[in-house]
Amino acid sequence: MKKLIVGNWKMKGSLAANESLIQALRSGMPTAACNVALCVPSVYLSQCQALLAGSAIDLGAQDVSAHESGAFTGELSGAMLREFGVRYCIVGHSERRQYHAETDTLVALKAQRALASGMTPIVCVGETLDEREAGQTDEVVKRQLAAVIHANGHCISEIVVAYEPVWAIGTGKTASVEQAQQVHLVLRSQLRAASSQADRIHILYGGSMNAANAAQLLAQPDIDGGLVGGASLKAPDFLSIITSAP
Ligand code: PGA
Repeated sequence: MKKLIVGNWKMKGSLAANESLIQALRSGMPTAACNVALCVPSVYLSQCQALLAGSAIDLGAQDVSAHESGAFTGELSGAMLREFGVRYCIVGHSERRQYHAETDTLVALKAQRALASGMTPIVCVGETLDEREAGQTDEVVKRQLAAVIHANGHCISEIVVAYEPVWAIGTGKTASVEQAQQVHLVLRSQLRAASSQADRIHILYGGSMNAANAAQLLAQPDIDGGLVGGASLKAPDFLSIITSAP
């Protein structure tokens, strides 16, 4: 399966910075690259859709409402995102679970809404440092993924999963290759129990992935790509991660 490298810009960027970043990525993209997507702040979707037109890079959003439409001030529906060519949508990022009190149930509904709108949800799961130290890693990620499997039934083979240990996000601390592969295998087994198509589901690693550690992580049998925050904002670093994806 072709690897998938996704940039998560978070709340970063500007009209000028986006333009120079995307231009640099377009001109530096290797010809036989893996699948690549950029999850940009929603206000820049229109700009980035235009800048990415005709390129091999897909557009993504960072969240979607669990509702179809209605009186939900500040939220964006799946249909709205689709109007701007959004193919992927991150759901349940740990920053949203933590700062916006998103529960497993809400995340599962968002994944369902993304699928119903024709987008691929990138479902994030991951344990905190306390949970890891208490030996609860497997239990936590399985609980988070189980909610999404339960709500999405046979459509589960259409999702992307991202394992992002919370303690590794933005901290410069990457999970070791062994730690990451071990959790990816736990998730793969859980997906296999739910779907005969589990082996074609991308399971991405996220958390301080960078130009120096990407190749080793991406060489693991159950690591099918990366969800890249900080390093996706620097064109040479992001291009080097893309190049290291076999
Ligand atoms: P990071 O972020 O690469 O900056 O650690 C990853 C993420 O939060 O998706």
